[in-house]
Amino acid sequence: MFIDNTLIKDIRTPFYYYDTKTLRTTLRAATAALADEQHLHLHYAVKANARKELLGIIAKAGLGADCVSGGEIQAAIDAGFAPEDIVFAGVGKADWEIALATDAGIGCFNVESIPELEVIEAIAAEKDKRVDIAFRVNPNIDAHTLAKITTGLSENKFGIAAEELLPAVKKAAEMQHVRFTGLHFHIGSSILDLATFIPLCERINELQDRLEAEGFSCMSINVGGGLGTHYEDPDVHPIPDFIGYVDIFRKYLRLRPGQQLHFELGRSIVAQCGSMIAKVLYVKRGKQKNFLVLDAGFTDLIRPAFYNAHHLIENLSSKDTETETYDVVGPICESSDVFQQNVVLPRCKRGDLIAFRTAGAYGEIMASRYNLRELPGSLVV
Ligand code: LLP
Repeated sequence: MFIDNTLIKDIRTPFYYYDTKTLRTTLRAATAALADEQHLHLHYAVKANARKELLGIIAKAGLGADCVSGGEIQAAIDAGFAPEDIVFAGVGKADWEIALATDAGIGCFNVESIPELEVIEAIAAEKDKRVDIAFRVNPNIDAHTLAKITTGLSENKFGIAAEELLPAVKKAAEMQHVRFTGLHFHIGSSILDLATFIPLCERINELQDRLEAEGFSCMSINVGGGLGTHYEDPDVHPIPDFIGYVDIFRKYLRLRPGQQLHFELGRSIVAQCGSMIAKVLYVKRGKQKNFLVLDAGFTDLIRPAFYNAHHLIENLSSKDTETETYDVVGPICESSDVFQQNVVLPRCKRGDLIAFRTAGAYGEIMASRYNLRELPGSLVV
């Protein structure tokens, strides 16, 4: 990748570099995949990146917002998302968050348990309101992705088991302050094999048949997010396969007349527009290895240490034709603070700028102040 040096000469490293042109191109591709079909809706999963400049662009492109906390709901509203286009998921919604969402008039609560349903009913009753809810169902489907980002297996904490759905819907139907509107699912993240979503469609078809046999219908189906992006070769595949993704649901999901279909994508919208930029502090010649010691660590980009995730690493400063092999590491006092081992790069020296590509999603937003480090900065271009 190329960064104009004049833009970054005064910026402290590490920082996140966001390219809004890439974001806009991605958003155009994502919305084009819906082909103006009025029953298809795209929500952006704010958890992937809540930087306000990006949220503003995403809201303007016409997406709704998928939020998992009161903070995200507030950030979405502040950035210009219409409250009715906001959905609120999460297995542990606190009372104040439910109250905030109710006052704001969000579009839908994605309810994950009966105890949560009861609290929403009570809070809406206090406010003399009726709120729309969907049930998040745990479909018990393997997303075949990283274990820590699989959400749709019955061993995971998310959603209501399929067997408990009917009693839950019946219970909601008896309540005065909630209105049952549909079903919500999310099986996992970073899914590149689109066939993974076929069993999800089949499970939804079965569940809808069962509900209808009991006299209940759904106004909307929300299939969650999960579309992956190419971490290995971002320049070859900068835009995720939105068309292939939407087509799977067009083909395998049996929607009823008038039914709305919601997607909630995070990673595929913002991953490629962001890179984390760090500086080489030291080239350390170890006994067995060369270590490239950076001024960024897992406090700035946790995905490699936490999920064993891979980000393409580039030296933006060196044109050296000689290469060397490095373990690329951070300054944090833990041996897990390794970005990647055995990386071949043009020979590096102190002061070189190193880019971690495809870091726009779950990068800056997951940064921490462990070791009392400063949070990474950012530059939106
Ligand atoms: N909807 C729900 C209910 C979710 O839990 C998630 C992500 C999404 C939508 C958006 O999924 P996406 O389109 O981004 O795959 N920190 C991890 C990813 C965690 C994803 C959590 N849920 C990572 O760095 O890979």
